[in-house]
Amino acid sequence: MAQEDVFKKLVSHCKEYGYVFPSSEIYDGLSAVYDYGQYGVELKNNIKKYWWDSMVLLNDNIVGLDSAIFMHPTIWKASGHVDAFNDPLIDNKDSKKRYRADMLIEEYLLKFEEKIAKEIEKARERFGNAFDEKKFRETNQRVLANQAKIDEVEARYSKAMNSNDLAGLRQIIIDNEIVCPVSGTWNWTDVRQFNLMFATEMGSTAEGSSKVYLRPETAQGIFVNFLNVQKTGRMKIPFGIAQIGKAFRNEIVARQFIFRMREFEQMEMQFFVRPGSELDWFRHWKEVRMRWFRALGFGDDNYRFHDHTKLAHYANAATDIEYKFPFGFKEVEGIHSRTDFDLRQHQEYSGKKMQYFDPEKGESYIPFVVETSIGVDRMFLHIISAALYEEELKKEDGSSDTRVVMRLPSFLAPVKLAVLPLVKKDGLPGIAEKIVHDLKFHFNCQYDDKDSIGRRYRRQDAIGTPYCITIDHQTLEDNTVTIRYRDSMEQERVGINQLTDIIDEKVSINSLLKRL
Ligand code: GAP
Repeated sequence: MAQEDVFKKLVSHCKEYGYVFPSSEIYDGLSAVYDYGQYGVELKNNIKKYWWDSMVLLNDNIVGLDSAIFMHPTIWKASGHVDAFNDPLIDNKDSKKRYRADMLIEEYLLKFEEKIAKEIEKARERFGNAFDEKKFRETNQRVLANQAKIDEVEARYSKAMNSNDLAGLRQIIIDNEIVCPVSGTWNWTDVRQFNLMFATEMGSTAEGSSKVYLRPETAQGIFVNFLNVQKTGRMKIPFGIAQIGKAFRNEIVARQFIFRMREFEQMEMQFFVRPGSELDWFRHWKEVRMRWFRALGFGDDNYRFHDHTKLAHYANAATDIEYKFPFGFKEVEGIHSRTDFDLRQHQEYSGKKMQYFDPEKGESYIPFVVETSIGVDRMFLHIISAALYEEELKKEDGSSDTRVVMRLPSFLAPVKLAVLPLVKKDGLPGIAEKIVHDLKFHFNCQYDDKDSIGRRYRRQDAIGTPYCITIDHQTLEDNTVTIRYRDSMEQERVGINQLTDIIDEKVSINSLLKRL
């Protein structure tokens, strides 16, 4: 199936099974804003717990914080967001569609990379084991021509971006005849800077109001509370502050479902370290965070680092952890060595000292910061993309059937087990209800007695329930039930009194955390 179709199926599956709905749907939706349904909210909460526990529970030098969304407007001046949190936008005069100029150029470059990848794939098939990719890249004329084009455009692009040369960006689009995908023309406006922060007014007009922003990242709430937490928690460097919360960005191009939203959630951790040790800590957090992803078991090769070569002015190292989505490798998390930029700026703008007294060194300094920053919604999309399968099943009579299954890691699954009486009579529903009543104190359980047992299994497969407990006539005789495993579809007979222990061992977050 084409990757585009895979993605379309994923989006409709999320809606059909109560994971994600378009926001304000009965009013035709609100662009790039989504609501999480009954299963979506459970998965989201489980993702957040996995992150929170891996930070705050497993590290005795990391503590949590929940800072307000509204903050003093000067914070955003100090952080650089008022002046520099911009995207370069361009409009097509014929289609009236708006684009990010940088994205148009990056997508143009991607086409050449795809051409190179195709050439390499064809050659690999032709030459088999004897294929030498490095040599092929150095000698194949088509690859060399495409690579030369990439290098030429990239050099101009990088220069224009670094010098904030908006006319230069437009000229790259014109010179390369990059057209609007809707109108097919290159009738473009000038490129303008567009600030991504949402602003609103605080206070009534009568008493005077002031402009405040909806935070575009949670990190600044951590920076401005750095000394509050350090002093009240008697924290010693190195230490971290972790926070989960909403962030808002007025994205120009909001596409790909919940990948790029205007209202989203971040899980950020700022790690405060001695100046000079930040690059060691940067490497440390790169490793730790990659392990966190890989522990989920979706395949090590589906993740990669993308180290930044163009660094923001405040960073001395930065990388993205990318996951292989149906639309290619894309960033899920950013890890940044932010130097002492933010704390120094807040010290300057607030006039308050942002220094830490280091008892071991006997001196005060502004700590350096390594940040890990991941989007909850993007992680959610990663997990759904990795877990959703359409499987062909061979039946005993030789015919085949398909099932849609979400192979979510048990700990993340919204419903841990479904309890299903085989038939709606002979006292089986009563036993099933009693099991649910006992187990609901431990796990998220669901009772279902509608339709055939096969259809009920399929419903649970589609929402990702890892275990189904079936009560049948043998239960009446010996107090045993069957556990059906979602992924293998195998069944096992166990005593009702064993259920809590068996399921608990399988769905507990502990085994996941122990892999870190
Ligand atoms: N404090 C650093 C920071 O905010 P970022 O790279 O802009 O860095 C971090 O964002 C993460 O937040 C990204 O890796 C992504 O997972 C998520 N994110 C950023 N913008 C987003 C958007 N518009 N929609 C959904 N997630 C987003």
